[in-house]
Amino acid sequence: MYQAPRGTQDILPEEQPYWDLIRDKAIETCSLYGYERIDTPTFEDSSLFVRSIGEGTDIVEKEMYTFDDRSGDQLTLRPEGTAPVCRAYVQHGMHSLPQPVRLYYLASIFRYERPQAGRYREHHQFGAEAIGDGDPALDAEIIDMAWQLYAGLGLHGLTLHLNSIGCKQCRPDYLDSLRGYYSRQQDALCSDCKRRLATNTLRLLDCKNEQCVPIAEGAPRNADCLCQECVDHFERLKSYLEALGLPYVLDHRLVRGLDYYNRTVFEITPEGETGSQTAIGGGGRYDGLTEELGGRPTPAVGFGTGIERLVLNLKKQGIQVPAPGPPDIYIAYLGNRAKLEALSLAGELRRAGLVAISSSGDRGLKSQLKHADSSGARYAVIIGDDEVQAGQVVVRNMEVGEQESIPRDDAVSHLARHLVSAQNPP
Ligand code: HAM
Repeated sequence: MYQAPRGTQDILPEEQPYWDLIRDKAIETCSLYGYERIDTPTFEDSSLFVRSIGEGTDIVEKEMYTFDDRSGDQLTLRPEGTAPVCRAYVQHGMHSLPQPVRLYYLASIFRYERPQAGRYREHHQFGAEAIGDGDPALDAEIIDMAWQLYAGLGLHGLTLHLNSIGCKQCRPDYLDSLRGYYSRQQDALCSDCKRRLATNTLRLLDCKNEQCVPIAEGAPRNADCLCQECVDHFERLKSYLEALGLPYVLDHRLVRGLDYYNRTVFEITPEGETGSQTAIGGGGRYDGLTEELGGRPTPAVGFGTGIERLVLNLKKQGIQVPAPGPPDIYIAYLGNRAKLEALSLAGELRRAGLVAISSSGDRGLKSQLKHADSSGARYAVIIGDDEVQAGQVVVRNMEVGEQESIPRDDAVSHLARHLVSAQNPP
């Protein structure tokens, strides 16, 4: 028997109310902050991601779904949403629009990771990007947007982890001192960290390996090595977060898994969790990315949040989601002429805004009424060939089990009246 590929999942009807709630809240939040939707292709040129995410990152080294198409072009299924949005910003000349350009997306993301709870090979992200302005007020806006989305979903107990990883000017010095510090402790590092020392020094800080955590704790702190401009940027951001009433925790080990970030990086973790493996959202500033992709120098900041992880946390916190109601009406029929009448009545009911399910096949009346009952429909309409002959239908109130025969032509108005009055009792 076929199964969904490892690390992917079907989102079954009973799960959909969670997804609808999150998507609706995300779209509502974006419109309150003036962000507009953008959709980009599911795959892009592989080099777009290699250049932006960075050669030494886990994503580029081991997690991308890359393939050659029939014309030999190398393509990659989107492993994150920011680079495609920047590519679109450059491609469509969005620098000529009023800046910053505020964009958001809901997109499927593909990473060949080791699947476990909250970590999949296909996941879905809601992300937002403010492109074209370096003001730390935008970093605060993006963080606030994420925070308000989570609050609007009813999530509680969240922690905002914040760090600044400096800029092109001050980072080389910091990396030197980090490399120096780690080189002195090389023997005590895990094998991944030994490799990272040469390939991706910053990522040494967020190694989860037991032997490496205390070493990372004692490492030089980026925030202590920032240039004056980065210090000012970070100080202003913190004051804006305070003005917005957003509590944060400074986390000098927070570096993120993508290379395009500079200055602000942040992650939001749910109650009882600390690591980036469990973050429900994260992001930061990426002032060099648009230029790297062929555009003009364009400061930018954004965040992404995993919908599966939000669903997990909504469930964990016992947050109820509005489930779709049962159908209003189930239409049962007996005989061929009655079936035609059932189909046309179902159409009329739907055009009147009522939720109508029409029976199918040629089951007996008992079985159809059982189906009507299990569907939760409030009314069943029963049509036999006799009813068609007489221009009548039988309307059965499923809650009380009473039924009456009414003229076919009155069926829509009769049902609409009864359903509305049941919803709004006097
Ligand atoms: P990211 O931290 O890699 O950032 O992913 C953002 C969020 O997506 C994570 O916090 C997590 O909730 C979810 N996520 C990531 N990987 C998985 C996975 N394998 N399974 C389930 N959920 C996952 C980015 O992708 C950046 N593009 C965010 C950004 C936007 N930075 C600036 N703008």
